[in-house]
Amino acid sequence: MTSSILLTGGTGTLGRLVVPLLRDAGREVRVLSRHSHEPGDGVEYVTGDLLKDQGIGPAVDGAEIILHLAGGPKGDDEATRNLVRAASRAGVRHLVYISVIGADRVPLGYFRSKLGAERAVADSGLPWTTLRAAQFHDLALNVVRQMAKLPVIPIPGGLRFEPVDAREVADRLVELTLDKPAGLVPDLAGPKVYGMAELIRGYLRARGKRRLTMPVRMPGKAGRAYRAGDNLSRSGAVVGKRTWEDFLDERL
Ligand SMILES: NC(=O)c1ccc[n+]([C@@H]2O[C@H](COP(=O)([O-])OP(=O)(O)OC[C@H]3O[C@@H](n4cnc5c(N)ncnc54)[C@H](OP(=O)(O)O)[C@@H]3O)[C@@H](O)[C@H]2O)c1
Repeated sequence: MTSSILLTGGTGTLGRLVVPLLRDAGREVRVLSRHSHEPGDGVEYVTGDLLKDQGIGPAVDGAEIILHLAGGPKGDDEATRNLVRAASRAGVRHLVYISVIGADRVPLGYFRSKLGAERAVADSGLPWTTLRAAQFHDLALNVVRQMAKLPVIPIPGGLRFEPVDAREVADRLVELTLDKPAGLVPDLAGPKVYGMAELIRGYLRARGKRRLTMPVRMPGKAGRAYRAGDNLSRSGAVVGKRTWEDFLDERL
């Protein structure tokens, strides 16, 4: 196999936006997926599972660059270690990874596994780049949609988010992928910080719905970390342009 860019997670929300950008840049793309897909438009698919350590060898074979976007609620650290082992054997010249802002600070399983994955990439011995992004608008929409189904919406106090447009994350990742390895680059966040109540109000307004809300307190260490803003970008972050309101106008 001779494709030069292997894309993991190429079938996901972010990955589907990245594929056409890499194609527009004239690159052949190989996508690793747990499911089989027909090839087309310069995109080849290899079936494999990073967590089960299956099919990774053929996926990395001949890949000069890996853009690693595959992820789930759990196990990104282990999945990434499996990928890194195979990538090291294949002599990949640039490994690019998408992580999340707060990976090093928020004491929740998802953030810890993203930090473990970041470390696997940084310790791989391969030239690497890691971008930490804020939550995508799409994810925020899924969350508020579920919450809005409740007759009374609980609003955890002090929780803030700076949602970013996944298209802007895709653009930045492609730029980083085609550039030289850069290590941990500045965070990418959305243009505004919103409290949970503002995110929900924006959604309800856009849908013409009304709901009662009830303040609640998120307990424990994770609650303290969120109230301290440990999930927010630090100074020097790159800031996207599209706001939550722009996204809602377009999507709803
Ligand atoms: N969503 C956010 O707000 C956000 C924010 C910051 C960072 N991120 C990171 O950005 C990345 C992409 O997020 P997303 O929202 O686009 O994800 P998504 O829509 O849930 O898609 C997940 C992707 O990962 C692949 N995948 C999952 N488990 C796999 C496994 N065991 N082996 C191989 N492939 C596997 C899936 O491929 P198949 O189903 O085809 O196998 C799919 O393409 C993730 O690493 C996530 O942690 C997301």
